[in-house]
Amino acid sequence: MTRGLLGLVASGCGGVEIWFRKDLAEPAAQRGWRLAITLTPTVVPWFEEAGELDKLQALTDLDIRWTPRLPSQPKPYPTPDAVIFAPASANSVAKLALGIGDNQALTALNEAIGVEGCKVVVMPQANADKRRHPMWETHVATLTGAGVVVVTDEAPGRLLDLLDT
Ligand SMILES: Cc1cc2nc3c(=O)[nH]c(=O)nc-3n(C[C@H](O)[C@H](O)[C@H](O)COP(=O)(O)O)c2cc1C
Repeated sequence: MTRGLLGLVASGCGGVEIWFRKDLAEPAAQRGWRLAITLTPTVVPWFEEAGELDKLQALTDLDIRWTPRLPSQPKPYPTPDAVIFAPASANSVAKLALGIGDNQALTALNEAIGVEGCKVVVMPQANADKRRHPMWETHVATLTGAGVVVVTDEAPGRLLDLLDT
């Protein structure tokens, strides 16, 4: 069964290179999602060093993205039906809440928030020190107010269930 196009976005959080494919991307593909995977520039070398990029690429016919297209190039991804941003670093949560799209991952996420009917799920991974930043709660509230589903302490595999509710 093909469910549609699922955008998966990952940022530079500890352990991502260990669980992102195994616990999120592979289960998503197994559930029938076509994957559009976009990475922040920070996390690309992490996946490369772990030998994960090729394995991730093998899960989808769409090229994994982390750089923007040239103006002369067509959009590589169709509009997604849903997007999961996991793990979301404190840095990228703050930028997303402010609408900053200074890399391809944030550009895709910012656009997805504006797409009618596109469910966007964000799983922040930030320790207590980062969450004590005076703007943290405001950023989370801003995203929630825009219809984004912000989850805490969720197992990566469970994120996919949220797309069915
Ligand atoms: C090994 C390592 C682990 C990190 N883990 C986290 C993390 O779990 N959460 C977080 O918010 N930042 C973490 N950081 C810091 C982010 O990688 C850093 O803020 C970076 O600028 C995030 O960039 P991005 O949001 O564009 O991916 C970590 C950094 C390193 C080097």
